[in-house]
Amino acid sequence: MSTTEQTYIMIKPDGVQRGLVGEIIARFEKRGFKLVALKLATPSKEHLEEHYKDLSSKPFFPRLIEYMMSGPVVCMVWEGLDAVKTGRAMLGATNPLASNPGTIRGDYALQVGMNVCHGSDAVETAKAEIELWFGKEGINQYKLASSSWVY
Ligand code: PPS
Repeated sequence: MSTTEQTYIMIKPDGVQRGLVGEIIARFEKRGFKLVALKLATPSKEHLEEHYKDLSSKPFFPRLIEYMMSGPVVCMVWEGLDAVKTGRAMLGATNPLASNPGTIRGDYALQVGMNVCHGSDAVETAKAEIELWFGKEGINQYKLASSSWVY
């Protein structure tokens, strides 16, 4: 059991434009996760192509990159028990049609492209994504002034 597992969560351009940043941050805070990195960014095409390189052969790849360049994104690293799996569960299914009410996409998204947020799909992917987005700046390390059950 690791209470220091980290996941990379990114609020996509539609989430920023629709004013959902505070709502999404609040959901992760209230769930009990610890925010260890946060920034608003306007990534380059090359940076996004690296982030989504596993999807480069998909027909929607150019559309996805173009969409992700349409406005700023919010990049975050959240830490806590099972952060990767729980983060994905909180996001909901990639296709909003299949995402349950109560999840971020199930509550706020209608289209598979504009699905509000991205979350790492595995611990190893999270490490690579955190390095890609925060490698230069690094992650903040601090202790919460709280009891042992708040990580
Ligand atoms: S796949 O095909 O199963 O590997 O893809 P999937 O896991 O469903 O989705 C991976 C990411 O690609 C985005 N996606 C799309 N963007 C734009 N248009 C279309 N048609 C499309 N289909 C999938 C999807 O939102 C996922 O983005 P992230 O940022 O990883 O959540």
